[in-house]
Amino acid sequence: MNLKEPARKHGTPLLLIDQDTIKKNYLALRKHLPRVGLYYAIKANPEPEIIKTLAELNAGYDVASLEEYESVLRAVPQKHLRDLPAFIYDRIIMANTIKPINTLKKMARHRTLMTYDNPEELKKIKKYCPDAGLICRIKVANVGSVVELSSKFGVEPGDAPNLIEQAFKMGLTVEGLSFHVGSQCLNIENYLNALEASAGIFAEMGSRGWRLKLLNIGGGFPVPYDDNVIAFTKLAGKLRREIDRLFPKEVEIVAEPGRFIAATSATLVVSIVGKARRDDKMVYYIDDGVYGTLSGVVFDHIPYHFRSFKRGKPQLSAVVGPTCDAFDTVSTSENLPDLKIGDLLYVNNIGAYSSASATTFNGFPKARILNIN
Ligand SMILES: Cc1ncc(COP(=O)(O)O)c(C=O)c1O
Repeated sequence: MNLKEPARKHGTPLLLIDQDTIKKNYLALRKHLPRVGLYYAIKANPEPEIIKTLAELNAGYDVASLEEYESVLRAVPQKHLRDLPAFIYDRIIMANTIKPINTLKKMARHRTLMTYDNPEELKKIKKYCPDAGLICRIKVANVGSVVELSSKFGVEPGDAPNLIEQAFKMGLTVEGLSFHVGSQCLNIENYLNALEASAGIFAEMGSRGWRLKLLNIGGGFPVPYDDNVIAFTKLAGKLRREIDRLFPKEVEIVAEPGRFIAATSATLVVSIVGKARRDDKMVYYIDDGVYGTLSGVVFDHIPYHFRSFKRGKPQLSAVVGPTCDAFDTVSTSENLPDLKIGDLLYVNNIGAYSSASATTFNGFPKARILNIN
């Protein structure tokens, strides 16, 4: 990717998103998990161009809020929306188990798939959005996943059959089950145990006379930020075999990948705006930081590393953001050559959970987004 020229032309901080990589990542998921319908979790990167690129590949979308739901409908080209109710039911999952009443009221205009994991949510859905297609989210192990989700979401698998039966008895439609093994999942066992638990619940519901039709295996597919990450093809092979062993063909399998589609698509280019020697270490101040595109250092637990266009003897350096907060420290240990104010640095694989959680704290604007290809 040519980085210097766009950085000169558009200024920094600049986030370049390669739409070809978005396509390639989506098609890799399709190729290696052919039985799995894909709903892009737009929380990873809600950039409208990504939503558009994926619409052309007939992707679905996982949304977490009314704003995300509406932003999908705004970004998807009109030709896909001619039969709006069908698009919404087939291609959107509201995958936040907790939904404000106002959101439910607005979503009631069309039937939508949505997750739930507790009886209070069922009461809200019954009252404000009774035609929804429900997906009961179960709690599964997130051991060894970089971002832990199980402490906040999911009914215990042992309690799931009663919660599902409760929904059916309230006259609601339960389509199936979902789980999330935690984001950037580095432990295949999380998926295998979750599939096993789900199959048990399918069987239990069958024996009670209720049929579940859909299994949502969530996200978590890991990105090769470093060499320790399990190869996706190996993970996908195991998933394919386990899914086919545990679930008959009539069961529809879907997933909500976010990181896997977005992360490797983007590179961030920043400028050095200041430098100082502190505690015998060079500290470079850059024009983006943990309150901006590098917010993933905090919220996503990803240790981003910087590359320089310049060569030279590497020296231990810190890289910090532009705000008046010492917490705005991106890295305390980078190996960088001697750099000048105005020099550029760049960070690869920063397309997921980066610009999505950026702020303008201290008045520093968010990185400009440039879509290429
Ligand atoms: C409900 C839900 N689905 C999907 C995702 C996307 O997960 P990932 O980015 O690991 O693919 C998340 C991430 O937090 C999530 O909370």
